[in-house]
Amino acid sequence: MAYDHASATDFFHGQPYPMWADQRAECPVAPAGEGADLMGGIQVLGWSDVETVLRDAETFASEINLRHIGEFMGELIVGLDGEEHRKYRNLVAKAFRASQLEQWDDGLVRPIIASLVDAIAPLGRADLVRDVTLRYPVQVVCGIVGVPLEDADRFAQWAVEINTGPINREAGFAARDAMTEYLRPLVEARRAKPTGDFLSDLVHAEVDGHTLTDERLYGFLRLLLPAGAETTYRVMGNALFALLNNPDVLARVYADHDLIPKVIEETLRWESSVTMVSRVATRDTEVAGCPIHEGMSVGVVTGAANRDPAHFDRPDVWDIDRPPALHVAFGTGPHQCLGMHLARLELRAGLEEILTRLPNLRFDPDAGDPEPLIEGYAFRSPNRLPVLFG
Ligand code: HEM
Repeated sequence: MAYDHASATDFFHGQPYPMWADQRAECPVAPAGEGADLMGGIQVLGWSDVETVLRDAETFASEINLRHIGEFMGELIVGLDGEEHRKYRNLVAKAFRASQLEQWDDGLVRPIIASLVDAIAPLGRADLVRDVTLRYPVQVVCGIVGVPLEDADRFAQWAVEINTGPINREAGFAARDAMTEYLRPLVEARRAKPTGDFLSDLVHAEVDGHTLTDERLYGFLRLLLPAGAETTYRVMGNALFALLNNPDVLARVYADHDLIPKVIEETLRWESSVTMVSRVATRDTEVAGCPIHEGMSVGVVTGAANRDPAHFDRPDVWDIDRPPALHVAFGTGPHQCLGMHLARLELRAGLEEILTRLPNLRFDPDAGDPEPLIEGYAFRSPNRLPVLFG
């Protein structure tokens, strides 16, 4: 065994990939052991089995996602199944339409990243996590919802408290109510007079003559920061980490920004921010010949699937020149990420603006400890990215 189980699965500092490689080689369906009980039951690690489970939403249901967080976040899309999920998703999907994405690119995303990078450009040194990635997708989500920039920190703090509601219930409920009350006037203004923005689309979207109930509308808005900001900021850090550790590739990407989409897709495969999603078996079944009993929780380890040697050659290597192959960083099946086009847009704009405005980017050798490292068990990203430029 080339890993220590407790440190591999440490929530904040874990390095789980060697463990998953060993487990997958032994059997692609592993009991979720000590330390991995975040998901309980069993874990599915192989590429084709992960795909099978995520596509078979009748046998592997998502309602488990409401068990701990539901009372704080509300009736969430990630925890609904079947027809209920399909209707809800069709309604909110209208707000992610292509023309909206185009408007966000020039009108929202570019100005936000440009101003964050411009603020550090004259300094010659920065921590790209603290100064750029941590702030950028939060500000984009706030802009999309219509929350003014000066309230972004407050909004982000409520999202954290809602997310950690199962640990601190009082703060979780207080943040849930505070965020709803903050959003109510924004929602009511769009209800009275649609402005063509994302929130207007959400409020007025109709499927079969029904609009979103308030419960689901506010639930969806509460989900947007954890689903859309936390995930994207981490992947952007992972992409920058990979580039900084591969100066030859970084030089190529400086010279040819058309390589940026390859950087993004390869980073999503190699080090996505979200390494697993949860399901629960609705009946006795089996995966890869292993029995799974009704009611068992199933950790679907998309991170492990993205490094399955049966699907990817030299899976642990970050290689932007590998032939295009599908990854499951955004999941697959009926719950596949609704924000993936926005995420790709933000990542592309983010890398383009950084490489345009910060020449000769390199790690700062005098920045001290801790060493920049991608770390974490279920959520992964670098702790810091101290750099020099210019
Ligand atoms: C690189 C960034 C992102 C990653 C890695 C990511 C990852 C994922 C994954 C793995 C799922 C599937 C969950 C499941 O199957 O249970 C998902 C669902 C979802 N994501 Fe993302 N996501 C990202 C960015 C975003 C953004 C920017 C938004 C919106 C602002 C967003 C909104 C959603 C929503 C609403 C769902 C639920 C879809 C459903 O249940 O039908 N995500 N995401």
